[in-house]
Order: sequence, then structure tokens, then C-alpha cells
Amino acid sequence: MLCRRQGTMEGDFTGKETYHLNFDPKGYFNMYKNFGLGISPGNDERLRFILEHLHKTFAHGGIRGDTLIDIGSGPSIYQLLSACESFKEIIASDLVEKNREEMQKWLRKDPKAFNWTPMVKYVCQIEGNRERWMEKEEKLRRTIKQVLPCDMNLANPFNPLVVPPADCVLSTYCLEVASKDLHTYRSGIRKIGSLVKSGGHLVLVMALGGTYYMVGPHKFSCIYLTPEMVKEAIKEARFDTVHFDILNFNMPMTYANGQNVGFLVAQKHQEA
Ligand SMILES: C[S@@+](CC[C@H](N)C(=O)[O-])C[C@H]1O[C@@H](n2cnc3c(N)ncnc32)[C@H](O)[C@@H]1O
Repeated sequence: MLCRRQGTMEGDFTGKETYHLNFDPKGYFNMYKNFGLGISPGNDERLRFILEHLHKTFAHGGIRGDTLIDIGSGPSIYQLLSACESFKEIIASDLVEKNREEMQKWLRKDPKAFNWTPMVKYVCQIEGNRERWMEKEEKLRRTIKQVLPCDMNLANPFNPLVVPPADCVLSTYCLEVASKDLHTYRSGIRKIGSLVKSGGHLVLVMALGGTYYMVGPHKFSCIYLTPEMVKEAIKEARFDTVHFDILNFNMPMTYANGQNVGFLVAQKHQEA
């Protein structure tokens, strides 16, 4: 019990082989469908919290620039809908080829791609003009310049490519699932922190207090995180926390056992 609360036990950790084998983008999309995406993402408190925070961060938080890197994008694009208005270029990335291919399907308007339009309309509504959704879809398609293979547990996550530091690194629900324990999580924060330019920003959406999530019938591990553990890791990586908001939200146990969702914005120390 103690081990569980401190983090997923090493033996339970979902390694990359299992991700390649069992992470099914279609199973992952079912979660969004079941959470009301078909009706309106605004009906889902968790999505509303994330999308509104992303909007505030990129539209009003002064976080803008040339390049944003998204680590562990999965097959998803929702997390980039506000960012594409504030960055000239987005680099998306994921460990699993099927996820990258699913994103490419949406980028090239493949009829079999997941329908993100209700999510896009909802973000346009938050931004003040629901009618602009087609324009936003095109803007995001133009702004995502690359979808790269990435393993954030490698010394260089984009090996063999070397990606120059960006104005902002974003990551939603990835670090806590890609880390086998708190030590790896802290080194993961340092690693993705090194992809941020001096004075640039790190934006993280995370599950707090959870140990697993489900994709279809398959269980994936997650390390048990508290806000204090996250703040400590951020500080150690030479970032200042700009804000850290928490939504108390118990996921249905059939999907995950996280107790809260965290939204964090941190700024990297200026190098002398
Ligand atoms: C819970 S999903 C989140 C996906 C997406 N960011 C979202 O918010 O919907 C976790 C993602 O992390 C990716 N992932 C797991 N281990 C990783 C690693 N070591 N490096 C990069 N991505 C990883 C998985 O392939 C998966 O797409």
C-alpha cells in the first residue's frame, strides 16, 4: 500500500514494448466519445478545465513565440487548439507509431480520421467565435510542421534528431505515465526542461493521485503524484512555478483512478 502511494511499483510499470503493442488510438478515442465529446466537450468538467486553462495560458498569459514542442501528443490534437494561435510552428511527438499515424490522418484530412470538430468548435466558442472552427482546423494543420518519434526516457528524446530548444514545451498526461518512479519523473522533467529556451515556458497537464489508466481492455501504469512532488521536480529543473491549478475530479474507475487533474505553467530561469 505504501509503495502504491509513493509511486507505481517498478514491476507494474508499463514499458514501451507494451505501449507499442497495446496502446490502441481507437480505444483511447472511445474515452473522449464517452465523456460527451459527441454532444459537447463543455459537458465534461475535466476537458472544460483543461481547454479553458490552455486558452487562458496561450491567449492571455503572454506565452507565445516561434516554436512549441508537444511531448507525448498521442493521437490527440485538442491540446494544441489554443497554442496554434500563439506559435508559428508546433512540433508534435509520440512514442507510438500508431498514434503518430492517427495524427497524420487528421492532418491530411483522411476520411477515417477521428472527428475532432466538436472539440474545435468548443475551443472557438471559448475564444469568442464558434463559427471560426474551419479556419482554426486549417490553422492547426498549417502550424503542426512535424510529428516526430520521441522517447522521453532517452537522453535525447528525439534521437537521432537534435531538436533546438523551443519557446514552450507542452505535455499532457505523458510524464506521469512514461515514468517508472519518482526518480525517473524528476529526470524526465529535467530532460524536457532542457528542450525549453532560457526564460521560456513549460506547460503540463497531469493526473494527480492515480496509479493507472485504461485504453480499451488494457491497463497502463501511472506514478502516484502529489502537487508537492511536481513543484519539487519543477524547482530542481530550474523553473519557477507561475501557476498551478488543480481540479478535484475522480475519473470513473473503468478509465483511471486519478483523483485530481493538475494544470501547471512554469518559467525557466534566465541564464546569465
Ligand atoms: C495518456 S496518453 C496522452 C496523450 C495526449 N497527450 C493526450 O492528452 O490525449 C499518454 C501518451 O504518452 C505516450 N508515451 C508513453 N511513454 C512515452 C515515452 N517514453 N516517450 C514519449 N511518449 C510516451 C503514449 O504513447 C501516449 O500517447
